[in-house]
Amino acid sequence: MAAGEWMHFLFIFLSLSLSSSMSYNPIDKCWRRDPNWAQNRMKLADCGVGFGSAAKGGNGGKMYTVTSPGDIAVNPSPGTLRYGVTRNASLWIVFASDMEIKLQMPLFFTSHKTIDTRGSNVHIGNGACITLVNVSNIIIHGLNIHDCQPSKPGKILLSEGTQAEEIETEDGDGISVRNSRDVWIDHNTLVNCSDGLVDVTLASTAVTISNNRFSYHDKVMLLGHSDDYTADKAMKITVAFNHFGPGLTERMPRCRHGYVHVANNNYEPWGAYAIGGSADPIIRSEGNLFAAPNEENNKQVTWRGNPNGTSWLWKSVRDTFTNGAYFLPSGKGKALPNYNSGQNFKVLLGPLVPILTKTAGTLSCNPNHRCL
Ligand SMILES: *[C@@H]1O[C@H](CO)[C@@H](O)[C@H](O)[C@H]1NC(C)=O
Ligand SMILES: *[C@@H]1O[C@H](CO)[C@@H](O)[C@H](O)[C@H]1NC(C)=O
Ligand SMILES: *[C@@H]1O[C@H](CO)[C@@H](O)[C@H](O)[C@H]1NC(C)=O
Repeated sequence: MAAGEWMHFLFIFLSLSLSSSMSYNPIDKCWRRDPNWAQNRMKLADCGVGFGSAAKGGNGGKMYTVTSPGDIAVNPSPGTLRYGVTRNASLWIVFASDMEIKLQMPLFFTSHKTIDTRGSNVHIGNGACITLVNVSNIIIHGLNIHDCQPSKPGKILLSEGTQAEEIETEDGDGISVRNSRDVWIDHNTLVNCSDGLVDVTLASTAVTISNNRFSYHDKVMLLGHSDDYTADKAMKITVAFNHFGPGLTERMPRCRHGYVHVANNNYEPWGAYAIGGSADPIIRSEGNLFAAPNEENNKQVTWRGNPNGTSWLWKSVRDTFTNGAYFLPSGKGKALPNYNSGQNFKVLLGPLVPILTKTAGTLSCNPNHRCL
């Protein structure tokens, strides 16, 4: 190729890099250029990537508008969030105004629901938080979830037209996903809960956790119920375009079994470790940006909860490391993504991660403008 052509390509590359469209990652690129997002809300359901990309939420169903922050767990009133998530129909749930929702009891969803806060500033905190059990097709987009507390056993409505049922104690996770599939958790801000910020367990699979901002918390993300729970070998989870930090200690994520693709995330210095595991998970860490803490003995990204860990298949592919951070790879083989073509997405290089994750967390959206 002639020198002139190279210059031409270089010029195109630089101008693309500098334009705002380039600054969107593959998920955001799919919808955030649209100033009419408020008329096209369900378009979001087409924008997921990775293993959770089939999650359609309430796509194709009715819109439901939350008008009240109230919560009565046994008999939710129309207009509340709990009323929406306990309906049997597919619903795309939006909010009439900014609100702070203090949940009386954990919020259990039925299948085929989207939470879409775009246009409102919605907080769930200082009480119980979100629990997805035995469901599929859930999208959770744009919630501020913080200071989640453990809940006591008690009665709640699980789905409309049934009797309220007794549920057990919840540990105080921000979002707990159990025995569920096709779940996409995108653009949320999660801070300081009693247990995990996002925990995915009990053979849940086809989950994508993307564009979230996590901060001020110890055990961030647990993937897998217990080392003995081998049904978790079926788990396939994508963790992409998230911003981890400041103030995080460990589990970004901690994996037990199954396959986890950790791609294009931005890691601020951790307290103990970034990516860990304890029961032979396959981990592909790809195109992440890791900034180690200053302590000389704490530069390792990885943690293995078992001496056998030196044989587990953990690969670092095109990651970028700063301040002495290093990933200890292990195992034989390639840790291929195993995505089908519909789930696949292009992982970019670590140095681009600050741009790709710049707007991780909740967005500020006004109708008739692009979401900032
Ligand atoms: C979830 O499914 C399990 C196993 O079938 C069942 O025991 C449990 O009651 C279900 N929980 C909910 C909240 O649906
Ligand atoms: C909603 O679904 C539940 C569980 O499938 C069922 O028991 C209940 O009767 C349904 N409610 C209505 C109003 O159809
Ligand atoms: C987290 O919440 C606890 C109370 O549950 C509080 O004592 C602590 O100060 C909070 N930490 C941060 C960093 O906000």
